[in-house]
Amino acid sequence: MKKIYKIIQISVLLPFFGLMACSSDDSYAPIESNPLVELIIPADFPSFNSAFYNNQPTKFGVELGKKLFFDPRLSRDNTIACATCHIQASAYADQQKQGVGIEGKVGLRNVPPIQNLAFMQYYNWDGSKRQLENQVIVPLITPEEMHSSIVEVIGKIQEDLDYQKLFQQAFGDKQITDQRIYQSIAQYEYTLISANSKYDQVQRKETVFTPKEQYGYEVFQVKCASCHSGTLFTDQTFRNIGFPINRDSNEAGRARVTGDLKDYMSFRVPSLRNIEFTAPYGSFGQFQTLKEVLDYMDQGVLWADNLDPIFKENENKLPLTTEEKEALIVFMQTLSDGNFIGK
Ligand code: HEC
Ligand code: HEC
Repeated sequence: MKKIYKIIQISVLLPFFGLMACSSDDSYAPIESNPLVELIIPADFPSFNSAFYNNQPTKFGVELGKKLFFDPRLSRDNTIACATCHIQASAYADQQKQGVGIEGKVGLRNVPPIQNLAFMQYYNWDGSKRQLENQVIVPLITPEEMHSSIVEVIGKIQEDLDYQKLFQQAFGDKQITDQRIYQSIAQYEYTLISANSKYDQVQRKETVFTPKEQYGYEVFQVKCASCHSGTLFTDQTFRNIGFPINRDSNEAGRARVTGDLKDYMSFRVPSLRNIEFTAPYGSFGQFQTLKEVLDYMDQGVLWADNLDPIFKENENKLPLTTEEKEALIVFMQTLSDGNFIGK
């Protein structure tokens, strides 16, 4: 498979809203340009979420979004930033079983990595959000996460001169609005693209797999790729694969969104990119290691009416030999992108 890089490079001039804002406050030069950020995307990545086209990352939008992402003032007691749970060294996931928010409160689910989200059509384990711009409010207000409100956040940051300047540069005037906060954070998230793992380098013919990685890759194609498919290693569907159940009464998997029993305890097939860095695994961190995940699939998963046919038609199992498990783990480690996690 030959990969050709396509480079998106469109420079635009934002309308000069800045000029109008200057009559009352001339401390900032009017924005002259806020160019789109160049994203380098492998040709075989899936298409963008359509929301991306209405909110393409710009130089200052991304800078602003990044500052917000790392700012603990987004939480009620100023202790928790987005980046507290979404840590770069863990591919913007963390090492907890479930998210830990303000006052040490434990949330419902495991923190997913933030990577390649521009190419996803559903967000969160249950796909409750279809656009990144709409996802930002969730952690902001969730009591076990940041337990704040958008009004509170705007109140805290609006006198901050650094923010005023960045809002001006990103949006043409220094007004801080909820939408601008959501858009800039989403813009920053859109730029978090992981596409330089050993797997990618092999696809680009820059290197080759070891024999064991190659064997793992072949086993993966047969046993895993029907769900963990394509270059993102997810087909972006929702499935119940019989993992141990989160007994929290708020959990129902995808059924929480659709209200349909057929979706009970179904979760979005997770991407396996950077999986080495995102332990523990499962929607509430049921498994400490990749080996535990594979042993569980091999020994037998929980029965359910809506258990995925791949397991159901095989006595609730995905049989794997010791050799296959070892090779699968070695293969999954080729999905690690050192640059992405800042190594
Ligand atoms: C307390 C820990 C915590 C904090 C703080 C937090 N998150 Fe999350 N984040 C999570 C958890 C847990 C999930 C999974 C939620 C679910 O599936 O219901 C998640 C999911 C996400 C997702 C969806 C990822 C995907 O693969 O679909 C995005 C995007 C995200 N968070 C961005 C943010 C942003 C932006 C902030 C700050 C405004 C933030 N998070 C703050 C824990 C946290
Ligand atoms: C029928 C579809 C399907 C098949 C086949 C499948 N998976 Fe998954 N996989 C999923 C779903 C769905 C989840 C999330 C389930 C949950 O948390 O309840 C998951 C979770 C995982 C996780 C944990 C990911 C995380 O971030 O927590 C790993 C690792 C994994 N799968 C690897 C594999 C491997 C390796 C194979 C092949 C041996 C495989 N899967 C086969 C659908 C599948």
